[in-house]
Amino acid sequence: MHILPVASGKGGVGKSLLAANLAIALAEAGKDVVCADLDLGASNLHILLGIQPSGKGVGFYLKEKNSKFEDCILQTEYPHLRFIPGDSEIPGIANITQSQKKALISKLLSLKTDYLILDLGAGTHLNVLDFFLTSSRGILMTMPTLTSMLNAYLFLKNALFRILSSLITKSSPANRILDSLEKDGTKFQKLYLPKLLKQIKEADKKVYDSYMEKANSFAPRVIMNMLENEKDSRRIDKLRMSIKEYLGIEIEHLGIIYRDELQDIALNSRIPILLYKPNAVISQAIYRIADKLVQHVEDETQLLDFNFAESFQIAELEAQIDFSEKLHYIEDLMHSGSLSEGDLIDIIRSQHREINNLKKENQLLKTKLARAARAGFKV
Ligand SMILES: Nc1ncnc2c1ncn2[C@@H]1O[C@H](COP(=O)(O)OP(=O)(O)O)[C@@H](O)[C@H]1O
Ligand SMILES: [Mg+2]
Repeated sequence: MHILPVASGKGGVGKSLLAANLAIALAEAGKDVVCADLDLGASNLHILLGIQPSGKGVGFYLKEKNSKFEDCILQTEYPHLRFIPGDSEIPGIANITQSQKKALISKLLSLKTDYLILDLGAGTHLNVLDFFLTSSRGILMTMPTLTSMLNAYLFLKNALFRILSSLITKSSPANRILDSLEKDGTKFQKLYLPKLLKQIKEADKKVYDSYMEKANSFAPRVIMNMLENEKDSRRIDKLRMSIKEYLGIEIEHLGIIYRDELQDIALNSRIPILLYKPNAVISQAIYRIADKLVQHVEDETQLLDFNFAESFQIAELEAQIDFSEKLHYIEDLMHSGSLSEGDLIDIIRSQHREINNLKKENQLLKTKLARAARAGFKV
């Protein structure tokens, strides 16, 4: 089972939009998918999925002692897709206890499905971090704004700190270091992870080694949503560099999604954008992300060989392609004069997409050839 938790530093970046539509895209591809709304207290995934859930959800399961977890798993009208609603029986993620969280996680992990998508609440509450850490390849959403990217960075810093502190027991020598951090009142934002790790390495090699092992297989994926123009896509390079330098991990770029007004209409009509306008740039961007996830299956065990830098180059190319697609879309609309000729527009656009995809493949092949040639020269 592939677990795909979807997180973000702050709310409103499109986690639920992605979780819902990614679930549909993977289910359409014939994969068995369970999509769970874990944004307790602010559950709205059912709206983005266009589902009217019955009363039982995660909150109900947690609150009612004799309830069965299986009872809150709904078969949706979409083949292959099951849904676990959040409901509002429990006010928020902060209100679930450690043991409730553990029970919930073990129930989720025991599900039999190809993909488990977890739509998480925003922020860095320990419960959110623990849901995110059910996978070493979780998805972190960000927007191109500086604050949103800082939030993404801090989210990962918190996640790594959570990994580290969960390895430290009260009696382990490294515990003193954590204690002294607390006593000094070191602000988490200012905490310099490489320095802390150096101290831990000297004090407690065992903890350090276990941490490094976990950190080395921890390679979250990022998605940048709500792009306005091509230039926005480049803003993520700094985030990647900071994460590499200060947090010591690699991230994969899973793709970009432009801001698209069509989503507002889809949401008002309670229809997932993939169903409302499958050929729209925004929908195609989500299908592309689903394709990458399906194709990258083998990579999970071959992280060492994975080309993280290339995932950023590809995303940048995709940002260029989608931007020109969007411009053409507007042009098409202007020439046709009315939206009712949407079918025609869709045909023209899908042809365009094919051309652009061919261009992209061509570019990729060139990059790969250049790399192979370079590697060849070294030998
Ligand atoms: N690419 C996009 N284009 C247009 N609207 C979007 C896009 N992504 C998200 N939205 C809208 O932004 C709002 C917040 O998205 P949502 O998925 O609920 O965020 P989150 O779950 O991170 O809080 C929703 O109204 C959603 O429809
Ligand atoms: Mg949400």
